[in-house]
Amino acid sequence: MTLVAGVDSSTQSCKVVIRELESGVLVRSGRASHPDGTEVDPAAWWVALKQAIEAAGGLADVAAISIAGQQHGMVVLDSEGRVIRPALLWNDTRSAGAATDLIAEIGAGEFARRTGSVPVASFTLTKLRWLRDNEPANAARVAAVALPHDWLTWRLLGYGPADESPLGPELDALITDRSDASGTSYFSSERDAYDLDLLQAGLGRRDVVLPKVLGPSERAGVCVELAGVIPAGVAVGPGAGDNAGAGLGLGASAGDVIVSIGTSGTVFAVSERPALDETGTVAGFADASGHYLPIVVTLNAARVLSSVAGLLGVDLDLFSELALAAAPGAGGVVLVPYFEGERTPNLPEAKASIHGLTIASSTRENMARAAVEGMLGGLGAGLDAVRGVGVDARRLLLIGGAAQSKAVQQIAAQVFDAPVVIPAPGEYVADGGAVQAAWVLAGERPNWPLEVVAEPEADHQPVIREQYMRYAHSVK
Ligand code: XUL
Repeated sequence: MTLVAGVDSSTQSCKVVIRELESGVLVRSGRASHPDGTEVDPAAWWVALKQAIEAAGGLADVAAISIAGQQHGMVVLDSEGRVIRPALLWNDTRSAGAATDLIAEIGAGEFARRTGSVPVASFTLTKLRWLRDNEPANAARVAAVALPHDWLTWRLLGYGPADESPLGPELDALITDRSDASGTSYFSSERDAYDLDLLQAGLGRRDVVLPKVLGPSERAGVCVELAGVIPAGVAVGPGAGDNAGAGLGLGASAGDVIVSIGTSGTVFAVSERPALDETGTVAGFADASGHYLPIVVTLNAARVLSSVAGLLGVDLDLFSELALAAAPGAGGVVLVPYFEGERTPNLPEAKASIHGLTIASSTRENMARAAVEGMLGGLGAGLDAVRGVGVDARRLLLIGGAAQSKAVQQIAAQVFDAPVVIPAPGEYVADGGAVQAAWVLAGERPNWPLEVVAEPEADHQPVIREQYMRYAHSVK
């Protein structure tokens, strides 16, 4: 039996899955936590990766591994391979002003044409600009810029500072893949090349090492023996950004739109054509199979439900029952769920609001349903935007913690005008890593079956979106 491993080094934790190459059956798994915060020392990810590998029973019998991870984070290395300062993560917003400056200098349309996306504070280039402007001494020391999955892959291959790694600080050995490179704002996935003029516009220099961009099934190298945890000889895949990893783990192909409802919400598709949205609503990333990954990211997703459940004094099961006891449209009650401001639409200062309350409609049932409808309404706007760049949504795959809620499943089939499929709960990003590991090893992309737990009957009720959009449009 040949085994392959996939990793999801996410914002909150590191997850490792070990699957059987031929069948894709999950053999074992492990996880370890990451520290909180939007600024993190990458050393913590390396420790967590080793812990998660051990928790998953180790790699002694594993033939290949590949690491997917949170996108965009800025990892800056000096010429000795040391991390210069803690990584700034995708959810660190201190570079919002830098994003505005870069767009003013270069132009939103020019960014979209050259990189597929208009940068927001999440994207790596804006963080490099922030570093240049706020920590010039650190910026001057930068010898290489990597993303979280690039840096972890480099460490796994045995590279790092001389006193911490068997192979030393070989910066030219850094690798990445198209999907993660496409979230930097200095890479064109259409041309498959870095845009060094844009890098210069951010960091103020271009004389730094950027990771070599590998294709979907290209081998990065093999592991060297590391402190008894990593055995020598395990093949290492190119890795991926987490959204692209999930696409691979779900076996998504053209026509599939993935709606992920976690802390943030994402709506993305595997597309054969690059997206080009000068408004910045849709980011035109690359996927991990050689295609493209148009994506919309919202900030208000699963926590909308938990906070309204808290307000109503019920747990999530009771909350789901309450929501399903109300009629579609929640008696005219509309929740616009911008609790944390919003990234799409770009309303960083917005707050949540409730509309349409009458004495008769002010029920707990309507309030619960309005929260689900509002959260899905925001994702529905994301789906419209993804369709707007030419994506044909033939099927929606709902994943993430909140997708297991019965209310979310049934109301999704009313909010969205496309068939909804609920895959079994799983670590799809880590699974995407396992798919890459299998692909690298066997030379062809595996075709592992996807387990589906629900397919709610289509019951499209356009009134829900109509009344949601009426109020959402008026938010400034
Ligand atoms: C994508 C994005 C998030 C992170 C979360 O643009 O910022 O999905 O990748 O891990």
